[in-house]
Amino acid sequence: MAFTTEERYRAYADWSPEYIEKIKQNTASSPWRTNFHIETPHGLLNDPNGFSYFNGKWTLFYQYFPFGAAHGLKSWVHTESTDLVHFEPTGTVVYPDTPLDSHGAYSGSAMEFGDKLFLFYTGNVRDENWQRHTYQIGALMDKDGKIEKIDKVLIEQPEDTTDHFRDPQIFNYKGQYYAIVGGQNLDLKGIVKLYKAENNDYLNWTYVADLDFENDLTAYMMECPNIAFVGDQPVLLYCPQGLDKSVLDYGNIYPNMYKIGQAFDPETGKIVAPSELINLDYGFECYATQAFNAPDGRALSVSWLALPDVEYPTDAFDYQGCLSLVKELTIKDGKLYQYPVEAITSLRQEAQPFSNQETTNNVYELDLTIPANSKHEIVLFANADQKGLVLTVDTEKGQISLDREHCGQPFALEYGTSRTCDIESGALTANIFIDKSVFEIFINKGEKVFSGRVFPDADQNGIAITSGNPTGTYYHLDYGRKTN
Ligand code: FRU
Repeated sequence: MAFTTEERYRAYADWSPEYIEKIKQNTASSPWRTNFHIETPHGLLNDPNGFSYFNGKWTLFYQYFPFGAAHGLKSWVHTESTDLVHFEPTGTVVYPDTPLDSHGAYSGSAMEFGDKLFLFYTGNVRDENWQRHTYQIGALMDKDGKIEKIDKVLIEQPEDTTDHFRDPQIFNYKGQYYAIVGGQNLDLKGIVKLYKAENNDYLNWTYVADLDFENDLTAYMMECPNIAFVGDQPVLLYCPQGLDKSVLDYGNIYPNMYKIGQAFDPETGKIVAPSELINLDYGFECYATQAFNAPDGRALSVSWLALPDVEYPTDAFDYQGCLSLVKELTIKDGKLYQYPVEAITSLRQEAQPFSNQETTNNVYELDLTIPANSKHEIVLFANADQKGLVLTVDTEKGQISLDREHCGQPFALEYGTSRTCDIESGALTANIFIDKSVFEIFINKGEKVFSGRVFPDADQNGIAITSGNPTGTYYHLDYGRKTN
């Protein structure tokens, strides 16, 4: 299964159609294909890219290595949507095919300018000594999906960072365009740099400052930083790789975290009065979350539901990774909430009372109320022996845990099989979206979120209430036809 470096960086044209057909069929035979989450027809998906609104549609790309479950030569696949729930892929559009992105069209963002979508991304290049060169570069997509690359480096690697400098996010603050880029300084600590588009020209970027967000400087790299505004408050989301667990504990190999500021000062590059660092998701998989402000002002986000440097049971089927549902970010009582966009309710079929039950192939939503002062346990993906994904909610102690130890194929065991988070004691709600091998659990409509993957056995199809008395509704979800 392991790919050699030669295979990971082999030119796209050098893979035979027979090989691609073979892995495509293998992927299609997986028992864990999702029903309403974006995944690949074969090969590996990682970060969401270029989440934006263009030409009257929602546009979302993802990082792609088509030739198996490995991180190799990356391109961008384009998808579009009219409701933020149903996404149609149109194909691979940004290839690693120029001297500025020869070893990967890495992650980035997008913004509509006139009748074009400007893509701002990282060109990953290796020289003959396999030395990395990183270029922040651009491309324009027209309304027919045609890509024209901009033959110019838009932001060079700064002198005070290593070659880990990538993932530009363009954003609009009060009519002025800015960009942030994640990086590693010469002390090998993660930082974020802020740039400004001179005269709002996306081809002309000048450095403003290293973003000041009370960086604890314990991470070695900030991947995928992005800023979205909820009202006037900036939310800075990023992946501080190597973050010291004394700053904030986390269970996954790499964390995805955020800070909420009271304001943004673009002159000094300051997130004013940032909150402490907070875990974006308490589950097992959630990374490279990308957020942007839609034209109507909403802050929308989407995450990659897998992690770098982890092997997944789907690798045997020549694919890996999926995207989360699209979530809206809001702030209530100073706290960030993340909850799927309203259109997700359009998938709901007839309401049924929640109970111990068989499900229709693990494709459903639960809308639950969990009473105060008591302990509850629900087994999702349950078999006849009530083994599956165990959700425990203690509303007296104010604690929620999730355990995937007995749910199908084991994986990522080094990082443990359970996750826990604290919440105020008292009654709460849980909206649980289950999609074959994906779970997204939203407590109190997004106050806390647990996302991740499980790869259940064929008989793990049920729901068992093994303790307590949660009540609510079960909805089978019907997405309609899905294309990959
Ligand atoms: C995060 C990341 C980004 C990079 C991309 C490459 O998962 O490592 O920093 O641009 O993936 O695929």
